[in-house]
Amino acid sequence: MYMNSTSSNPIGIFDSGIGGTSIFREIHQLLPNEDVIYLADSKNAPYGYKTKQQITDLCIKNTELLLKENCKIIVVACNTATTNAIDYLRKTYDVPFIGIEPAIKPAALNSKNKAVGILATKGTLSSELFAKTSELFTKDIDVIEVIGAGLVEAIESGNIHHPSTIQLLEELLQPMLAKNIDYLVLGCSHYPYLISILQKLLPKEVVIIDSGEAVARQTKNVLKNPNLLNSGQKKASIRFYTNRSENILKSFVPEFPVKYLDF
Ligand code: DGL
Repeated sequence: MYMNSTSSNPIGIFDSGIGGTSIFREIHQLLPNEDVIYLADSKNAPYGYKTKQQITDLCIKNTELLLKENCKIIVVACNTATTNAIDYLRKTYDVPFIGIEPAIKPAALNSKNKAVGILATKGTLSSELFAKTSELFTKDIDVIEVIGAGLVEAIESGNIHHPSTIQLLEELLQPMLAKNIDYLVLGCSHYPYLISILQKLLPKEVVIIDSGEAVARQTKNVLKNPNLLNSGQKKASIRFYTNRSENILKSFVPEFPVKYLDF
């Protein structure tokens, strides 16, 4: 499949829901000529409490749909899916996969307080891939891992600024504040939508980092070598599909067409 790809084929992106739209924005900004097909598997969100096998099965379903649309590369815009299933996807399909993982390395390397907070799903924090990366870079660092229980659900329901979400965040940040973190790693592609609230709840000196921009750069690099970057002059075709409420996805990407699809 990959061998037959041409530069005009679309980039495929999927997530358990709307979170990956934060990654889409980075990709679209860096690669504005590229056609994109985005799948929001909101019907099955959150992925974070599913088993590795269940997450892998959902990734297979999403991947096969994107391959039917002749995607030349697939961006797994979900930390939970990446940390649980990307090895399987890479072994199984002849198309490059770009994944997203919590940016522990830059946080650990730059932390002056030697205390770093990581907010991610249960599925990400309990994955082997996360454990390996964390072990590599955080030997002399206090890592405060917190499961963002309830956050994906709040964002998927359009309740980002609801008082209950703010209260939930306050509670989740408590153990991190108690350890005086100076870096907060957002290990879930939904969480960048919480940044404005997090900034209000955290001391000013705490740096919040996510991996969206790095994913976009990596996507560009991987497409560049086999000459698969779209240099066409026509306006990019951007299509969003959701298997739940079109309205909620639409509110995150109001400038693009959003359609319901049963997948
Ligand atoms: N956006 C997904 C991630 O990056 C959310 C996971 C979920 O659905 O629980 O982990």
